[in-house]
Amino acid sequence: MAATHLSYTRASEKLYMSQPAVSKQIRQLEEEVGVSLFEKVGKKIYLTEAGEQMLKYAESILGLVAHAKDHFSEVKDGTKGRLKVAVASTASSFAIEMLGKFRKSYPDVDFDIEVTNRQTLLSNLDRNLVDLVIMGQPPENPYYSVEPFMENPLVFIAPPEHHLVGKKVSVEDLINESIVAREEGSGTRQAMDGFFEGYCDQLKIGMLFNSNDSIKSAVISGFGLALVSVHTIQVELEHESLAILDVENTPINRYWYLVHLSEKKMSRVAEIFRNFILEKAV
Ligand code: PGA
Repeated sequence: MAATHLSYTRASEKLYMSQPAVSKQIRQLEEEVGVSLFEKVGKKIYLTEAGEQMLKYAESILGLVAHAKDHFSEVKDGTKGRLKVAVASTASSFAIEMLGKFRKSYPDVDFDIEVTNRQTLLSNLDRNLVDLVIMGQPPENPYYSVEPFMENPLVFIAPPEHHLVGKKVSVEDLINESIVAREEGSGTRQAMDGFFEGYCDQLKIGMLFNSNDSIKSAVISGFGLALVSVHTIQVELEHESLAILDVENTPINRYWYLVHLSEKKMSRVAEIFRNFILEKAV
């Protein structure tokens, strides 16, 4: 203030401080940096060369503080910030589209999105690396807050010309077929192992993939049957390149869940995204 008005008196009026208090602060600053910032010529004060430089520093510091305030008010209202979401591989077929819709309303939000299997999702949650997880089968544990938002039916698929298509299929029928399966650690795999409980030793797992796209290609190419979420096969059903088998006790009725650590302090943007998913979901 003294530098812009070149007057201690004027600065003290503006700052609602006494003139000696202003002079004292300037002296303290000069002692701290070890150079004179003002010089007095007659009754007037002027900035020294060092004073001019200090004024520039002060202006940029004040500019940065104002910028930081703006930034944090946007973070507080959720229009800015970083949203860290991890999504089960199987859920990526619809979750990325949902994230895209959200991004249209919140263009200044940065996204960290990881697509991975159930086991890695849980490890990311436990290490507090993500705000929210979208997954198929959360553990039953009060340590996690779990909210279902959409149905996730699992079905057996086959190539359309397969001899079991159009028939009533029993678990025993499937035991005689080659199965294309997801990797250990996948939620779909966990559901499949549960479905074949008691038969697992007899199961002929011909191929193992960690991607649903590879599973579909393998089934279409005749390598075997597979259990998948219906969310992953919409295009193939439309093109009739895959068929759903009428297997007893299927579809396996599961849900998609939004999960976060119960004690996590959610950022505003994470809260807004959570509400967006829960409201938009069908
Ligand atoms: P996955 O998870 O992609 O790990 O199989 C999906 C699910 O849990 O249903």
